[in-house]
This record gives sequence, C-alpha cells and structure tokens, in this order.
Amino acid sequence: MNSATILAIETSCDETAAAVVRDGRECLGQALASQIDLHARFGGVVPEIASRSHQEVINPIIEEALERSGKSLADLDGIAVTQGPGLPGALMVGMATAKALSFGASKPLIGVNHIEGHMFASFFDHPDLSPPFISLVVSGGHTLLVYVSDWGKYEVLGETLDDAAGEAFDKISSYLGLGYPGGPIIENLAKKGDPAAIKFPRAMMKTRNYNFSLSGLKTSVLYYIAKKKSADEEINLEDLAASFQEAVFDVQVSKTERAIREKNVDQLVLAGGVGANMRLRERLSEVVKTNGWRLYYPPLALCTDNAFMIGAAAWFGYNRGAFLGLDAETKPNMTLN
Ligand code: KG4
Ligand code: ZN
Repeated sequence: MNSATILAIETSCDETAAAVVRDGRECLGQALASQIDLHARFGGVVPEIASRSHQEVINPIIEEALERSGKSLADLDGIAVTQGPGLPGALMVGMATAKALSFGASKPLIGVNHIEGHMFASFFDHPDLSPPFISLVVSGGHTLLVYVSDWGKYEVLGETLDDAAGEAFDKISSYLGLGYPGGPIIENLAKKGDPAAIKFPRAMMKTRNYNFSLSGLKTSVLYYIAKKKSADEEINLEDLAASFQEAVFDVQVSKTERAIREKNVDQLVLAGGVGANMRLRERLSEVVKTNGWRLYYPPLALCTDNAFMIGAAAWFGYNRGAFLGLDAETKPNMTLN
C-alpha cells in the first residue's frame, strides 16, 4: 500500500465534516459542524435545511481541518468525498466542493460509500484491525449485517426491511415529545428502567435470515403509549425506554452472534450512531467474551457521521486507483456491493 494524505469530506446527512487522514489511520486534523440544533424542532432531518446549511459551512470547515492538520492543499495526495448513500441535495454539496478542490489543486478524486466509511471508523483506535470480520452497522439511516472477508469485499448478510435502528429510537422519542436525536435520550432513560418491564415483540428473531424489522415494535410501543394515555394511567418512561431498547438489541445481538459463527470469524466491528449506545456495547461485549472473540468500536464521537471514517476508507480506494472523473455523480441509493 502506498502512503497517502487525503482530505476527506462528508455531507451525506446532517453533519458537515472534513478531515485530513494519513494512510487511512491517522487523523492529522478534523472539523465538524453538526446541524442537530437546526433540525431538532422538526423532530428529524429536513433535507432542504440540511443542504443549505452544508453550503454555508463547508468551506470554513475544510479550512479549519486543513489548518489543524498543518497541511495545505498542495501537500495532499487526494480528495475524498462521500458519494452515497444519503440525502441527494446534501451529497451534492460535498461532491461539488470535492470536485472543485480536485480540479483546482490537480489531485485525484475518490468517492467513498458512507456505510463502508462507518465500518472504517474503528481504525481510529485500532490501526491493526484487518478482515475477516463481521460488521453490525446501526445508524439513523441503516441497519446491516456485513461480512467483510477481505479489504473491499463486502457481503451484505441482511438488513432492515423497514425502519433503521436509529430511526426507531428517533421516532419513539419524538412521539413522546422527548426531543431529537432520540438515541441518547432513550438510552439515558433506559439506564434507570427495567428492560423486562414491558413485553415488546422481537420481530424476525427466529427467522433463519439476517434481516431485521422494527416497524412492528414501533407500532407496539405507540399502541402501548396510546392505551396508557386513554386509560389515564401514568407511563413509566424509564421502563418503557429500557424495554424498547432491549427488544431492539435482543434481535441485533442474536443475529450478529449467529453471523459470526456461520462465517467462522472471530472479530466483530460495531459501527454507526447506535453503536454509541452503552447497553448495546455491553451486550455485544458479553457475547464476544463468552466466545473468545474480539469486539471493535469507534470512540463515541466517531460513531455518528464524521470525515475521519471517509478518509480511512478512501486510502483503500486511493490504492486501488479507483478515481472519479469530474463528471462523477452522487449516488443517493448507493449500496455496499
Ligand atoms: O450514524 P449516524 O450519524 O446517522 C446515519 O448515518 O444515518 O447516526 C445517527 C443515529 C440517530 O438516529 C441517533 O438517534 C442514533 O444514531 N444514536 C443512538 C445513540 N446515539 C446516537 N441510538 C441509540 N443510542 C445512542 N446512544
Ligand atoms: Zn452515517
């Protein structure tokens, strides 16, 4: 593998981020502007607001990342950008900016898959991590179990048929009027609750495939809340949060364990915003400990969207010579395979 210092740009959803990453492992400098406050009062990400906000801050964010890294554009070996999946208007801002920099500074342009990026966030603390491994990707937009047999070789074993994991947390929280994003709010409540207090369904727990479904659970929770309200009974939010969270994680943990066994690997990489959840980390830690496997996860701040992970994945694209032309387009529905 050739050494490379890459400027990476991420604008697929509601974070505008840039990072300078050396050899896919070392973060020389990064900057990030979160739009959470802008979207919070709408209870979720508003695409138009997202792209406008990306446009406003992308240049200063890139300048800040470069400044922190002590590098100038001339020092770089390439420009990487999230090509998809993501919000079309949001992706376009990153792509247009990356193209302009690539053209202006005569540096190759590398397109990165956002989900691949999430899986690479663990390199931050574990530069020695290498395939084969199973990755559980649980974010606001995605829930996937991926078998990574070798660098760049991805087999999606299963995914959600409806809501993504983080999306379910966000919807329940929003319905209860607790705020956005829902993940950390539900997790905090759950810490003081009893996970066995309310029996919620574990959809697809027994199916032999690796798919997930969360819309039934979501409906059960909403139905439970409505029933309590109409009976004028008080809802124990802590028990509700803990029981909901446990129902989500029971299925994820069980399917992840089965995937590791079936593929006969001994490493698990947790990725995505929901990977910040301590209860999920704890449950997966128990499983890997019992089996003598290893669990990797990113530092908390790199579980959610960031540009380090894009720069980490881009190093491999750089070495494969997988460069984009200036006519490249964003791919809002890009898949891993
Ligand atoms: O990875 P990410 O930034 O978004 C996508 O790429 O889709 O993850 C954001 C999602 C949100 O849905 C948020 O509620 C969830 O991750 N999340 C959590 C936690 N922290 C963030 N979910 C559960 N527990 C958490 N501690
Ligand atoms: Zn993401």
